[in-house]
Amino acid sequence: MGTSVLTLKIKRYHPGKEPLRWTETFKVETTQGMNLLEGLLRIQEEQDPTLCFRYSCRGAVCGSCGMEVNGTPLLACRTPVERLLKEPIRISPLPFFPVIRDLVVDMSPFFENYQKIEPYLHEKPAIPDREHIMTEDVRKAIDPYIQCILCGICFGVCPAFRREASFLGPAILAKAFRFLLDPRDRRGKDILQSVDHHRGVWGCNTVFRCVKACPKEVPPTHAIVRMRGKILKGHCARLFSRFSFLLRILS
Ligand code: FES
Repeated sequence: MGTSVLTLKIKRYHPGKEPLRWTETFKVETTQGMNLLEGLLRIQEEQDPTLCFRYSCRGAVCGSCGMEVNGTPLLACRTPVERLLKEPIRISPLPFFPVIRDLVVDMSPFFENYQKIEPYLHEKPAIPDREHIMTEDVRKAIDPYIQCILCGICFGVCPAFRREASFLGPAILAKAFRFLLDPRDRRGKDILQSVDHHRGVWGCNTVFRCVKACPKEVPPTHAIVRMRGKILKGHCARLFSRFSFLLRILS
């Protein structure tokens, strides 16, 4: 692709300004290999310095440039403009989050849920006698979940989060699973207990939209389904042991 002109229709929101919300059309000259974030930066530098959006790393690491483009939540820095064939390109903030200004959303619901699962290693015991053994298989199982960059894109496509803001959410449940698999973490069943409710694994619609949308190929629905299986297995084992106890008393 050589130089061409791209039309971007961007949803704007400036609190305290009339009108509060409007859609503005910008035209931007593209260059070979340009990504959407670079296009937005060009608009900000050359046409409208008040246009707001988040970014930091420019390399799909910080997770801050999530936005909705032609109805699909994605990372602007990871989206080559060549891929956006449908013109004009409609850009709006990440869905289901409160908007602060233009394309900047309030990520508090995401990080409040994130804190609830205590997303750090609870080591067992606190000072180990020797190194923890991690097999290659365990490492392979954990690997996909380590890639999460907390961009919130999975929340932006999640029907369960749309329905219920207190639903823990795909990235959070995937992180819980990551620590459940980790042999160094002492919480084990406590992690399962903390997600065994309708705002946890049972709230998921299992439509796999988060798996499809994740820019880092994290599979949250797989984690949710695996945790559901483990929870059910635990419930069945408890029921069975109670039943056997009852049978022993009666016999
Ligand atoms: S700017 Fe960091 S992920 Fe896009």
